[in-house]
Amino acid sequence: MEKLKIAGGRPLKGTIKVSGAKNSAVALIPATILAESPVTIEGLPEISDVETLKALLEEIGGTVHFENGEMMVDPSSMVSMPLPNGRVKKLRASYYLMGAMLGRFKKAVIGLPGGCNLGPRPIDQHIKGFEALGAKVTNERGAIYLRADELIGARIYLDVVSVGATINIMLAAVRAKGKTIIENAAKEPEIIDVATLLTNMGAKIKGAGTDVIRIEGVEHLSGCRHTIIPDRIEAGTFMILGAAVGEGVLIDNVIPLHLESLIAKLREMGVPIEIGDEHIFIGSSKNLKAVDIKTLVYPGFPTDLQQPFTILLTKANGSSVVTDTIYSARFKHIDELRRMNANIKVEGRSAIIEGPSTLQGAKVKATDLRAGSALFIAGLMAEGITEITGLDHIDRGYSKLVEKLTGLGANVWRENLSDHEIQQLKSS
Ligand code: EPU
Repeated sequence: MEKLKIAGGRPLKGTIKVSGAKNSAVALIPATILAESPVTIEGLPEISDVETLKALLEEIGGTVHFENGEMMVDPSSMVSMPLPNGRVKKLRASYYLMGAMLGRFKKAVIGLPGGCNLGPRPIDQHIKGFEALGAKVTNERGAIYLRADELIGARIYLDVVSVGATINIMLAAVRAKGKTIIENAAKEPEIIDVATLLTNMGAKIKGAGTDVIRIEGVEHLSGCRHTIIPDRIEAGTFMILGAAVGEGVLIDNVIPLHLESLIAKLREMGVPIEIGDEHIFIGSSKNLKAVDIKTLVYPGFPTDLQQPFTILLTKANGSSVVTDTIYSARFKHIDELRRMNANIKVEGRSAIIEGPSTLQGAKVKATDLRAGSALFIAGLMAEGITEITGLDHIDRGYSKLVEKLTGLGANVWRENLSDHEIQQLKSS
């Protein structure tokens, strides 16, 4: 077990390259199950969620090679192996194995997913969709059992706009008989990315990226090559970092259109931004203004950037309010930020930030992935040394973080935890 150590207070400068999108990767990899010949995905991020999914595909009989961000999956020998426990519990996106295995084998057993604890995260809309397609779905001792004699296209209205449910229903419906219409679908770029892969495999999908997706089921899907989109949340994290501690940071490999809400909010704060075709430059930011944000489904302000944005607001003059309408309990980073001298209080679904504060290095713990991003930005802003534990969360979503930050001139490194620190963590 390791901790991340940061000697903060240094201005950062230079170019930082964004990796492939985690939240696409975790759906694209299960989607390969649906093909009958090898699929290659280029540009995958080197993160633990990708490694876990690779191992899960191997567990069900797939042959997988992963090197330099390129994954070749031969799904031809896969079987519908039950996966009630074990690795599936490590990440929430293992729920995509349900849609993909149901689509290909008409049956699946998948343990209820793990992932970040951000308050209640039901999967009722996924199940509603599978049932509408003709599957019988039961929950037995913490595992979801899905079985269908055949899948038949249906009209499905999502009661909650859900990224996961939209993708999962799409995965099953591409192999159903006849037409499926998903109404009130989510519109995130990751959904378009998955639809692009499926279309290249031979699926018939129209409307991905709008709130009505139409799918005409097909009997066979075959292999293809696909390049993943850049990670808009990683890019957004680096933009916030640039505004917090940068003296000119160029973020490379970005689709600026995916980040319009963040760009608008940073500009409102007074952050200088220049936008290129595939890069965004964040200039040195002084005298930042306080702003309010409210997280919404895409193209609104992403909940996944709410936590790192909160720490930037400690640098702004005045009072800011951050409201998360997507998750009820995505504020576990606030106690840790307070230990670093941030002046923030939580009221219901909102965090109220009084700035500016001078942050001080401290020993803090990442309790979920994006809490981790808030903490490493805080560590870079703070005076003195910050030590972050809970790196398993950060490693789920940020590829080669130390290397990337060091490239900007940050003084950051990983160290093994002592036996005493491991005991302390286990008992906390
Ligand atoms: N919801 C339901 N029922 C469902 C599904 C969702 O009530 O059946 C609710 C959720 O509880 C939540 C809201 O709907 O309040 C939105 O959830 P959604 O299903 O869209 O989230 P998700 O698909 O589980 C993905 C990302 C999250 C990101 C959200 C929102 C993946 C693997 N995860 O989760 O990413 O926060 O969309 O944009 O794609 C992260 O990267 O740190 C992360 C948590």
